[in-house]
Amino acid sequence: MGKIPGISITSMKLEEADYDALILPSFMDHTVYFLEKLDLITKGYIVQSASIANFKWEQEEVQLIPLPKEYGMKARVVVLAGLGPKKNYDMEKLRRATTLATRSILDKKYSSIGVLVSNELVINNDINYTCRETLLSVLMSTYKYSIGKKEEHLRRVAVITTENPDHGLEEYVRAVAEAIYISRDIANAPSNKINPEGFEKEVKKILSGLEHTSIRVFRQSELEKEGLNGILSVGKGGSEPRLILIEYHGDKSSNEWYGIVGKAVTFDAGGLDLKSRESMLDMKYDKSGGAVVVGVLYAIAKRKMRINIVAAIPVVENIPSKTSYKPRDVIRMYDGTLVEVIDTDAEGRLILADSIAYLVKNHKPRLIIDIATLTGSIVVALGNYAAGVFSNTEFYKNILLEASQETGERVWEMPLYPEYRDQLKSDIADLTNVGGRAGGACVAASFLKHFAKDTPWIHLDIAGVAWVQEHGPKAPYYPKGATGYGVRLLLSFFEKITRQRH
Ligand code: BES
Ligand code: ZN
Ligand code: ZN
Repeated sequence: MGKIPGISITSMKLEEADYDALILPSFMDHTVYFLEKLDLITKGYIVQSASIANFKWEQEEVQLIPLPKEYGMKARVVVLAGLGPKKNYDMEKLRRATTLATRSILDKKYSSIGVLVSNELVINNDINYTCRETLLSVLMSTYKYSIGKKEEHLRRVAVITTENPDHGLEEYVRAVAEAIYISRDIANAPSNKINPEGFEKEVKKILSGLEHTSIRVFRQSELEKEGLNGILSVGKGGSEPRLILIEYHGDKSSNEWYGIVGKAVTFDAGGLDLKSRESMLDMKYDKSGGAVVVGVLYAIAKRKMRINIVAAIPVVENIPSKTSYKPRDVIRMYDGTLVEVIDTDAEGRLILADSIAYLVKNHKPRLIIDIATLTGSIVVALGNYAAGVFSNTEFYKNILLEASQETGERVWEMPLYPEYRDQLKSDIADLTNVGGRAGGACVAASFLKHFAKDTPWIHLDIAGVAWVQEHGPKAPYYPKGATGYGVRLLLSFFEKITRQRH
């Protein structure tokens, strides 16, 4: 895993700010305290330099200004980061301005960065929220996936404020940043590094030793014993499939559980319904949902949250071989539903269905939330700019929408009309696994809904946002590869649930 640098959120005098680079976000139509202060210390040098560079403080505008030693500052450069007009200002603008500035100096190999956040920049009157989100975005932007060589030059990152934020914010930010790094590392790993066996090893390495956390793994023989035939069938062509079950029992006073399910297809070649070369090229990322779940569990356990979570991660390879499952096969799923396979490339819903049904039967959770790179169709519908959210529960969905607002991880609500289910009619079984191209993401979600039964359930289709594709998602805090989308969303969601319950 990439290493997280030392982090802090503090108020201090600018003269004492011992960081190589200071990032200074400000508006085009309003000045901020730190800009005035810096200009005062440098006797007008900062504003003069900005004006020579014709800097307008537009959103996405960045300007590096070297600081001459004569002003007695410890910093070597100031990076101006435009926020545009104050009227349209929000947290996402601050994230983007800050991380664009961060990336503009990354190749300069500075070993410490301080971001200047004075009161004018505080969102919703919440200094803690503003500071932790800003710091987190910087850490997200400095992540880099590489195999082998690792050169790290960034040692310290700080958010410097004018007020005193709460203690312990750093601990929160570190746990979330680590969760995002974990999730990205797993999703970015090529399929010859992480196959189902490798996934199991990774999970054990990351989660074992964390308090209140236990891991159980069903391999071939246990999957057979349990009748988890959806997972077994998809996994037949590849190396031994798994169902990884993780319990985090952080609230011993309660027997209520929340379920999370994450799709982990370590490589999706499509099976016998083989994908084209081009559409196969990114399919190492088809384990992104499972990767997010591992990250989320890590952060929840690390922070010792007062909640009980059970996670199920079905892990398979979907590749063609003489043992692969075949079109027209009929599978008796874990809950007894008979599914006729039309397309072996619609494998995600089969392994998720068994995982959801398993949790429904054995844990009776208050809610199940699943996250998956499920359909190309959701990318057609929404592009690379939001995840699709489907649910049978207004109550939990509304909490998720709040979490989405707070984190900037966009979701867009999609319908579950009963007609979608009709597209899955089979002549010989209860359901088919695909129902034509029309409304593909909704049809897939309707398939899953069948297995959630009466359990409140939310489905997140993250096929468009799990990694950086040709058109997006675009943000300076998303380096190439996996985004870790969903880690912040789900953590904020469970944070809210925990707060509501206590
Ligand atoms: N993993 C893919 C979905 C996917 C496609 C994710 C592109 C990200 C980008 C999924 O298993 C799949 O192959 N779905 C098929 C379903 C179809 C056969 C009904 C799809 O979306 O084309
Ligand atoms: Zn597929
Ligand atoms: Zn897939």
